[in-house]
Amino acid sequence: MTIREGLTFDDVLLMPRRSAVFSRKDTSTKAPLSRNISLNIPLVSANMDTVTESGMARAMARMGGIGIIHRFLSIERQVEEVKKVKRAENVIIEDPFTVHPDITLGEAKSYMRREGVSGVLVVKEKAGKRLLVGILTRRDLLFETDDRKKVSSLMSTDLITARPNVSLERARDILHDYRIEKLPLTTKEGYLVGLITLCDIIERMQNPLSSKDKKGRLMVGAAVGVKEDTIARTDALLSAGADVIVIDIAHGHNERAIETTKLLRKTFGKNIEIIAGNIATPEAARDLAKAGADGLKVGIGPGAACTTRIVTGVGVPQLTAIMDVAKEAAKIGIPFIADGGIKNSGDFSKAMAAGADTVMIGNLLAGCKESPGEYILDRGVAYKYYRGMASYDATREKIDVDGGTDGVFRSPEGASGRVAYRGEASMVVMDLIGGLRSSMSYLGAKTLAQFEKNAEFIKMSNAGLTESGPHGVK
Ligand code: XMP
Repeated sequence: MTIREGLTFDDVLLMPRRSAVFSRKDTSTKAPLSRNISLNIPLVSANMDTVTESGMARAMARMGGIGIIHRFLSIERQVEEVKKVKRAENVIIEDPFTVHPDITLGEAKSYMRREGVSGVLVVKEKAGKRLLVGILTRRDLLFETDDRKKVSSLMSTDLITARPNVSLERARDILHDYRIEKLPLTTKEGYLVGLITLCDIIERMQNPLSSKDKKGRLMVGAAVGVKEDTIARTDALLSAGADVIVIDIAHGHNERAIETTKLLRKTFGKNIEIIAGNIATPEAARDLAKAGADGLKVGIGPGAACTTRIVTGVGVPQLTAIMDVAKEAAKIGIPFIADGGIKNSGDFSKAMAAGADTVMIGNLLAGCKESPGEYILDRGVAYKYYRGMASYDATREKIDVDGGTDGVFRSPEGASGRVAYRGEASMVVMDLIGGLRSSMSYLGAKTLAQFEKNAEFIKMSNAGLTESGPHGVK
């Protein structure tokens, strides 16, 4: 047996070359996520329960990337997370949150808190339709201390509304003229049919690169496993508006993953965009593409919380995995995500230069405000919790939910612990994208396709790696 050499990010550097790109602004980071979806920035937040639920997915889509909602939730809860993304930054919210005028202010407040909205429309049922009778906003509630009062006692009834065909420009003018934040859309008879909010209009203006579906809603992906409920889960996620389904299994080149890919393609036909993974070889890329995948996810064991390589001895150093799959994927014409192991923007740039179409991030985003869970202050320093999905903690919880294993003892293949709190995800994303754009200018590339073409790696020694970091500076 000949043993090949496998390399990863810290083994190499990119060679600079003559460049006519003077500013990072001259570079485009547009990239395909899968056969039918393209992103303005090539970043995907990981389908892990300490990384991506609706908060992170919204933030990623607003910046031009995408988030994949993890699958360690009941079908109902995962669907709810997808809907929360779809509902956000919607030009017209077709199904706004409403309350009945007879419920108490306390009930309305907890409903608003639960749904994360600053106001609700007040409606009465009439002939199976919703007659708009008022609006209750955070401002109305500000100095009211008696939660037992009814909504009807505090709601504003002096309503400014518009018809559903109002243009966005006109809606913005109305919101400005009346200094209001919510514009309900009603029929002539006063039945509620939608809502336009100031927040959504501002968001839209501030985030011109955001990832949007055909209806103008933020894009979101969702992960599914290879279980009995996979078809039902996928069906529910697609109905909720998920733009892409990620088949999430540690060894994507397993017969069950291939069968599941085929089954999803057969069941949902053209109405589904499938990303299959995780893999690390060209053979796996070929098999999953043949089974019907529209995109692939590459990475066996490079992740910050992975112990697969320690526990099983299996894996491929990530740069080699990316380069191997890239050759095959280019032949087939299928995009892929490089998943795991990114420690900084240099690694991100190397992954892209090696042929990845997009990159998935776990660890670097887990410490952000938008990841699930609160931060913890320990002696004045803030942290968040991050865990591998095959860690002891996560596996134990899964057993609690799924009701047991197949009777075979399983060693955890992931670690868990705390990571530094990093503030808003936009800071992390800006840092990664800024580094990538700079790398593109060093290689004289205005587009990512050109970047890959111009890339030439040089292998470095340990001394080279030491030299590459700060040294001699105290
Ligand atoms: P980073 O390095 O960005 O990697 O944190 C995120 C990716 O790590 C993978 N992942 C795991 N791999 N055991 C593993 O071997 C685990 O418990 C585990 N949890 C997550 C996953 O591909 C993720 O996107």
